[in-house]
Amino acid sequence: MMTIQDKVVIVTGASSGIGKALAVELVKKEAKVVMAARNVEKLEEIQQSIDKDKNRTIIVRTDVTDESSCKNLIEESVAQYGRIDVLINNAGISMRALFSEVDLDVLKKLMDTNFWGMVYCTKYALPHIEKSSGSIAAISSIAGYKGLPGRTGYSASKFAMHGFIETLRIELLNKNVHVLLACPGFTNTNIRKIALNDKGNTQGESPLDESKVMPAAKVAVKIITAIERKKRDLILSSRAMLWANKWWPKWIDKKVYNMFAKENDPLLK
Ligand SMILES: NC(=O)c1ccc[n+]([C@@H]2O[C@H](COP(=O)([O-])OP(=O)(O)OC[C@H]3O[C@@H](n4cnc5c(N)ncnc54)[C@H](OP(=O)(O)O)[C@@H]3O)[C@@H](O)[C@H]2O)c1
Repeated sequence: MMTIQDKVVIVTGASSGIGKALAVELVKKEAKVVMAARNVEKLEEIQQSIDKDKNRTIIVRTDVTDESSCKNLIEESVAQYGRIDVLINNAGISMRALFSEVDLDVLKKLMDTNFWGMVYCTKYALPHIEKSSGSIAAISSIAGYKGLPGRTGYSASKFAMHGFIETLRIELLNKNVHVLLACPGFTNTNIRKIALNDKGNTQGESPLDESKVMPAAKVAVKIITAIERKKRDLILSSRAMLWANKWWPKWIDKKVYNMFAKENDPLLK
């Protein structure tokens, strides 16, 4: 168990959704937060509302698909705070298109953001996190355990995250570095509204009733608690489904198909 107070925490994708909620909760808990994303105006608005005097937050403009931008994020964090205790790889995008119809560039964008973004940030942060015996967290999804129709690129990027994180955890077994794989369930954020369609444009509408899914603030609190308790995994969607998938994957395939065939304006017809 560690306490997040006064720890230096980098949050990628802090301009919206779960990342924004993480920044808000971390400031409440008196951590020192590095807020990273591409949209600096949004980051500044958030900073203004949670840390007007800029005592507990800094902003580093970061595009996680660009290795040099991720290197700069880590260097700026160390230059400002002298150390890094926690890296939360949260930045991510989604998609909604059948594989038969999607431009392959969409899948490349998903991998560049969700997988390579995490790899770049982790690569440059790792020496500092080893020094502080800190934590690396990856925000994945149930889509990293089970393929979800219309989300080939999203599921592939999250499965890749799982392979990377699991291997890294084993490599670091004797280094006193904590590694968390967190899988929120459906959470009320922008992710589905800005998910890429078959042509790589944002789809604009969520196929879900967002008011019925988990609020981002609740997810953020659970992620921070999991980091403080040095948990290995955090799964906030149906554990029963994952368990059943181990034993009866064909049955779960059908269940997943039927579930996605019932979403608004379904892709599966
Ligand atoms: N919402 C859900 O239902 C759900 C469920 C399971 C897992 N997740 C995961 O949770 C994480 C956060 O998603 P969210 O739901 O909070 O989505 P969101 O509201 O759309 O926020 C995504 C964040 O990622 C950032 N981002 C996207 N591309 C980036 C890039 N190239 N470089 C830097 N930052 C980038 C965005 O910032 P800029 O646009 O300003 O760069 C934004 O701050 C994702 O990894 C997602 O897969 C979400």
